[in-house]
Amino acid sequence: MEVIIKKDRESAGRLAAKIIAGLINRNPAAVLGLATGSTPLGLYNELVRMHKEESLSFRHVKTFNLDEYIGLDPADPCSFYNEMHTNLLKRIDLAEGAAQIPDGRAKDIVASCEAYEAAIKRAGGIDLQVLGIGHDGHLAFNEPGSSLSSRTRIKTLSKVTIKANARFFGSEERVPKHVMTMGLGTIMEARTCMMLAFGKDKADAVAATVEGPVSASCPASVLQFHQNAIIILDEEAASKLQRHDYYIDVYEDKPDWQRYE
Ligand code: GLP
Repeated sequence: MEVIIKKDRESAGRLAAKIIAGLINRNPAAVLGLATGSTPLGLYNELVRMHKEESLSFRHVKTFNLDEYIGLDPADPCSFYNEMHTNLLKRIDLAEGAAQIPDGRAKDIVASCEAYEAAIKRAGGIDLQVLGIGHDGHLAFNEPGSSLSSRTRIKTLSKVTIKANARFFGSEERVPKHVMTMGLGTIMEARTCMMLAFGKDKADAVAATVEGPVSASCPASVLQFHQNAIIILDEEAASKLQRHDYYIDVYEDKPDWQRYE
C-alpha cells in the first residue's frame, strides 16, 4: 500500500486528479471506476478544470460506478446516477454510453448485477478505481461482514451507513435499505485502487484499513492484499496511523521517476 498524507483535502484532491490525468495521458482509452459521496468532489472538480483549461479529454474513456440505491428513479436528486452526472459526467466530454452505473430500477436484480460484471470484463477491466470509505470501513456499499471475494450484488445497508447518508435524503426513513454494489472481489480486480479519506471522523476506519488485520469486519482492509493500492489522506484522516511519520518520509524521499507531482 502506498499511503500519501497531504495537508488538506484540497491538495489531496489535486494529487488524485493528477494521477488520473497521468493515466489518461498514457492511455486515452482508460477505464475508470468512479465513486460517489462527498470525498471525491474535489477530485472531480479538478478533473473538470483540467478538461476545460488543460484540454484533458475523456473522449475515449469508459467509466463504471461502484453502486446505486435500489428503487430510486435515476432523476431523483439522491440517486447516485444523478449525483455522478451533476458532479462529473455532464461536465466532461465522455462519449455517449461510455458511463455505466448499476441500474437500481432493474426488474431482475441478479441478472442486472451479472450483466454489470460482464460489461466491466468486456471493457477490458477497470484500470483505476476511485474509492471513498464509510465510517464502518465499508468500500462502495460492502458493509462489514461482506465476503472479501464478493461480486456485484444486492446488499442491505447497516444502521451506521443509513445514518451517515441521511444527510442527503433529509431523514433516515427516506434512505433506501437496499443497494446494488460492486463486490470487494470486483473492486480488487481493478489494476489500481485509489482510496481517498478526509476528516477526523474517518481516522478510525483508515487506521483499521491500513494498519489493522485484514478482516471482513473492516471491508476496506482487503486493500492490503492489492498489488497497487494508493491511499490518499488529509492530516485529520491520517491522525490515528502509527506509522504516520514513516509514510511522510517515504513520500518525500520518492525517487524522481516515481513521483506524481
Ligand atoms: C457511501 C458510498 C461510498 C462512500 C461512502 C463515504 O456509502 N457508497 O462509496 O465512500 O459513502 O461517503 P463520503 O465520501 O460522503 O464520506
